[in-house]
Amino acid sequence: MCMVKKYFFCYNHSAMKILAIETSCDETAIAVLEITGKTTTPKITRLAHSIASQIELHAQYGGVFPMMAKREHAKAFTPLLATSLQKAKLLKKTNYPLSEKLITKIRTTLEREPDMGDALITFLSGISQPAIDLIAVTTGPGLEPALWVGVNAAKALALAWDIPIVGVNHMEGHVLSVLVQEKRKGQKTFTAEKLHFPVLSLLVSGGHTELVLMKDWHHYKKIGATRDDAAGEAFDKVARMLELPYPGGPKISALAQTQRGKNVIPKEYALPRPMMMSTDFDFSFSGLKTAVLYLLKKIAIHTDEIKAHIAHEFENAVVEVLTHKTLRALKKYQCTTLVVGGGVAGNTHLRTTLTNTVKKTFPKMKVYFPEKELATDNAFMIGIAGYFEYLKTKKGKRPGSLRAQGNLSL
Ligand code: KG4
Ligand code: ZN
Repeated sequence: MCMVKKYFFCYNHSAMKILAIETSCDETAIAVLEITGKTTTPKITRLAHSIASQIELHAQYGGVFPMMAKREHAKAFTPLLATSLQKAKLLKKTNYPLSEKLITKIRTTLEREPDMGDALITFLSGISQPAIDLIAVTTGPGLEPALWVGVNAAKALALAWDIPIVGVNHMEGHVLSVLVQEKRKGQKTFTAEKLHFPVLSLLVSGGHTELVLMKDWHHYKKIGATRDDAAGEAFDKVARMLELPYPGGPKISALAQTQRGKNVIPKEYALPRPMMMSTDFDFSFSGLKTAVLYLLKKIAIHTDEIKAHIAHEFENAVVEVLTHKTLRALKKYQCTTLVVGGGVAGNTHLRTTLTNTVKKTFPKMKVYFPEKELATDNAFMIGIAGYFEYLKTKKGKRPGSLRAQGNLSL
């Protein structure tokens, strides 16, 4: 173990442990990663991967309220930290009173989350310092009040353990985590893929729909984005219209799946494919959502069968648009690799359609999707991106310099 103090890291770390924190939306997530081997060929082991989901709470209201999310993150954080350290076998209970000076620093850092401050101080006073070398935390994009909880908690831990910290762009987490692949299923050990640039990344989540060109590691150029709703947002809104619970993506997908390959969608349920033929790489899903609304208004009785046809047609429309534009971008920028990230990357129809279409046109194209359990928000992806961030400078930042930025872009 390479326990490093005062912001210095060994280059050839024999083993470096990262505690990763994610609180950008409605999942409080903490992961512990161990990195071994050379920096050029790292071996990444997932020691802990915990998520406290707020979905049930938000489902009652049909969406996420930022202040409610913030409160839930603050409540969930310390118990989740304990669970994660325990899973990583880094939790050792002892009486470890913190100095008054440190307690004051932690309280000041967490002055907006006083209950979390109390819980964290009590917890830290009862354990010996775990062998963590670096903290990685999402700083954006996301719901700013929710982001601040993770950022402040990360700062407090960095102060308490006197270790460095790196801020992570959530979207970079979605991209980079797809580029490390599990060596053997279930082994929890991952290695970074050798990449040939340019790489095209399709990012599809609840807040984003973007096509991003990567000319090299960390060099991102956004070539297109949604002009209104994100794909995941459209899934969630249409799900609400179909009286399906939040988050709607997986529910619509399951409903569409009951029809796929079995029943033809009646013509009267046809929906538009917005901006599919536009020459740019932008998207628009708001009109599609409104088209579903009008369609539902036109139909007097919404039987389960009708809802299933609409879910089927809606999913087809989103997937066709995403596939068409992605294919054109791959062609235009002569990419050899496609990476798909974000919650909607877990969509089965998108995975098969995009992979089959791309492979038909470009048989040699490498196509990467996240493992389904890693498609939606988690902290493992933040740990991966945090590690790559750390490699840029071989050192972390001082806690004081970190800020949450709701609209952070790649
Ligand atoms: O990346 P993510 O977990 O959170 C954000 O960063 O936004 O993405 C969540 C979004 C939600 O809108 C959810 O409905 C959608 O991803 N989603 C899906 C599926 N699983 C999650 N959309 C379509 N099909 C799915 N299987
Ligand atoms: Zn996300």
